[in-house]
Amino acid sequence: MKLHFKKALVTGGAGFIGSHIVDELLDRGIKVAVIDNLSTGNLQNLAHVQERISFFQGDIRDHDILTKAVQGSDVIFHLAAVVSVTQTVEQPIDSAMVNDLGTLSILEVARQHDVKKVIISSSCAVYGDSPKLPKIETMIPLPLSPYAVQKLTGELNAKVYNDLYGLKTVCLRYFNVYGPRQDPSSPYSGVISIFMSKAASKDTPVIYGDGNQYRDFIFVKDVVRANLLSAIDDKACGKVFNIGSAKNTTINQLWKMICTMTALKIKPEYRPERSGDIRESFADIKRAQSILGFLPEYSFEKGLEITLQHAMV
Ligand code: NAD
Ligand code: UD1
Repeated sequence: MKLHFKKALVTGGAGFIGSHIVDELLDRGIKVAVIDNLSTGNLQNLAHVQERISFFQGDIRDHDILTKAVQGSDVIFHLAAVVSVTQTVEQPIDSAMVNDLGTLSILEVARQHDVKKVIISSSCAVYGDSPKLPKIETMIPLPLSPYAVQKLTGELNAKVYNDLYGLKTVCLRYFNVYGPRQDPSSPYSGVISIFMSKAASKDTPVIYGDGNQYRDFIFVKDVVRANLLSAIDDKACGKVFNIGSAKNTTINQLWKMICTMTALKIKPEYRPERSGDIRESFADIKRAQSILGFLPEYSFEKGLEITLQHAMV
């Protein structure tokens, strides 16, 4: 894949997914600026590249710092967000300020500063719990949380900027992303990051419900590649894409695989299902495959292995 742009701004670049995008851009010789308020991100994620990037510590809603950060960028990868669904439920207005107005600020600064393309991080949460599987982009979204509404609003604003103002935008609906640097510290962190830290400390994991619920787990490096493909492909403009693996894994299978890889024999503790838990989710990725040429390159086993190596250090 040949990148034809010179400089990119990564919002939320000190976070889990954003920091991997930063790494890949630098590896490919692209200049990188990052804006991040470090609310959930961590400078440790960028420590190995701090000499090679321009880092702007601040909020995406701060017009002055955002204007400084965007200078000279051809592309914006927009990841900064209040990512905790629970937090958006508790603080619907404050989170909308970041996820709705913050995203609008990114689109507007892009329009004003001649940015060629904006890639927006959306979420499979926009589908809600509709029983139809796999989730396909033509389904009517059924958001069940302020987070999902905010992500959907970001997609709609991106479409308006694409069609009305001619700013090229692409929206990516990630399914359950996992990989190194995912923070396991909250009970609502991604299940893989939690299970990895349990395995590292040889603790008993908790499985909510019977463990037969399943998810579509996608390795972070594949999500990075989806972002780069979106940046170079103009056929993608004005569209939304599912970014998942199109495979499903139950939570019971997940813990079994981790036990096999680590030679652990720990039985999980089963607790009642979480309220509002989605039973089954997996992606149809045919649109991403046919338009972006996206197919995951990391098998689940390979991705888990890499994640495990980092968790065990
Ligand atoms: P993360 O918390 O690691 O990254 C988010 C980053 O944004 C953090 O570094 C945080 O400090 C920064 N940030 C938050 N509010 C900000 C603000 N107002 N101004 C500047 N920076 C701010 O989370 P992540 O998992 O890397 O998520 C990245 C993006 O992907 C988010 O938009 C999230 O909604 C989306 N997403 C993630 C997943 C997943 O499985 N991890 C799934 C679907 C969508
Ligand atoms: C994900 C998002 C969530 C969003 C939802 C919408 C993450 C981390 N969470 O939730 O914000 O609302 O998609 O589609 O991306 N589990 C356990 N034990 C644990 C942790 C989790 O059994 O210690 C179970 C959960 O109950 C769930 C499954 O594992 O059934 C996956 O959980 P999680 O990783 O939080 O992802 P989602 O529930 O898909």
